[in-house]
Amino acid sequence: MNFKRNILITGGAGFIGSHVVRLFVNKYPDYRIVCLDKLTYAGNLANLRDVETAPNYDFVRGDICDYEGVLKILGDYHIDGIIHLAAESHVDRSIKDPFAFAKTNVMGTLSLLQAAKLYWESLPEGYEGKRFYHISTDEVYGALEPNGGLFTEQTPYAPHSPYSASKASSDHFVRAYHDTYGLPTIISNCSNNYGPYQFPEKLIPLFINNIRQHKPLPVYGKGENVRDWLYVEDHARAIDLIFHEGKVAETYNIGGNNEWRNIDLVRVLIATTDRLLGNPEGHSLDLITYVTDRAGHDLRYAIDSTKLQQELGWSPSLQFEEGIEKTVRWYLTNQEWLDGVTSGDYQRYYEEMYKGR
Ligand code: NAD
Ligand code: TYD
Repeated sequence: MNFKRNILITGGAGFIGSHVVRLFVNKYPDYRIVCLDKLTYAGNLANLRDVETAPNYDFVRGDICDYEGVLKILGDYHIDGIIHLAAESHVDRSIKDPFAFAKTNVMGTLSLLQAAKLYWESLPEGYEGKRFYHISTDEVYGALEPNGGLFTEQTPYAPHSPYSASKASSDHFVRAYHDTYGLPTIISNCSNNYGPYQFPEKLIPLFINNIRQHKPLPVYGKGENVRDWLYVEDHARAIDLIFHEGKVAETYNIGGNNEWRNIDLVRVLIATTDRLLGNPEGHSLDLITYVTDRAGHDLRYAIDSTKLQQELGWSPSLQFEEGIEKTVRWYLTNQEWLDGVTSGDYQRYYEEMYKGR
């Protein structure tokens, strides 16, 4: 079959990537969607079970740091669009192992940029009709004061964690490839996502899982840090819109306009999860356990997404209460998925399946 477009989505077996893959495979049957993923601890093919047999979908296990391998995939599939989500994404892990973050987030992005440049420059039409879309985070902007305004696209970069430093560095490389070589790049920086298929090391799925198992809820510091939460499918819709209608060389901020102090969010999670489990009100409140703060813990993130709303007409579709209800329900009805990722069983299965490849 001849496809209208051939799009590579990196990190498509992860949390946000799986929602983007699902959206594109279902919405664009005339596009071929190729998911490239290394299947690290955070990548799980169970996240894509419902699309794996679609005729316009292909999965390739591979590492974005493998420049020759990436180049071959671009050529084999005639890739004309790249949506790049593959990354190491957890701040706490970046504090323990910063090298892994520099390797994947910086060198992996560079390898992908250079492969796209080389492949597209080798074609008669060059960069015409091509697009390299890099998915980044609001954490590159650093931290805000409690009443210190919002991050805009003009906010100077000031990353504090090894994770955000590696993402900031990758953003700089993406811009450099546009400014130096004319690569048709776009970047978006999004606030904290939540929803189904998030690895339960991040606050929301970890706490739902712990409430379900009546385990302690480790709140860092005093729980006063503020995050701006966006339902993951709203992020995926924004990515679709920006990929198709965003302007080359531009940056778009994506956010939920939905700020919560961690401790208040934890109370909402407890109330919702207890209710859905049939526990009496307040049953799990005593699980809240204040623990030593995260090193360099950014106090507040909050996004101004006016540009995206005004120029491309995007806005979040879900109210937070509705999004949280859907999310808690999903984790409670998908306990097999939760047990699979927490036990690591899926990782052993991949090692067996891809042995020697
Ligand atoms: P995730 O950790 O759930 O998934 C990352 C995926 O990338 C996994 O499937 C993993 O196997 C894959 N991967 C890791 N290293 C790879 C490599 N070297 N080669 C190929 N694949 C590799 O992450 P996520 O939360 O879905 O985040 C996706 C992207 O969105 C990241 O770039 C992240 O920085 C960005 N982002 C995340 C959030 C958030 O709240 N989660 C917010 C804003 C931006
Ligand atoms: P997280 O989900 O790791 O996202 P990020 O660090 O990228 O914002 O954490 C969200 C907030 O919750 C952050 O302020 C750290 C805090 N947190 C806890 O208090 N306890 C935990 O166990 C975790 C994982 C996070």
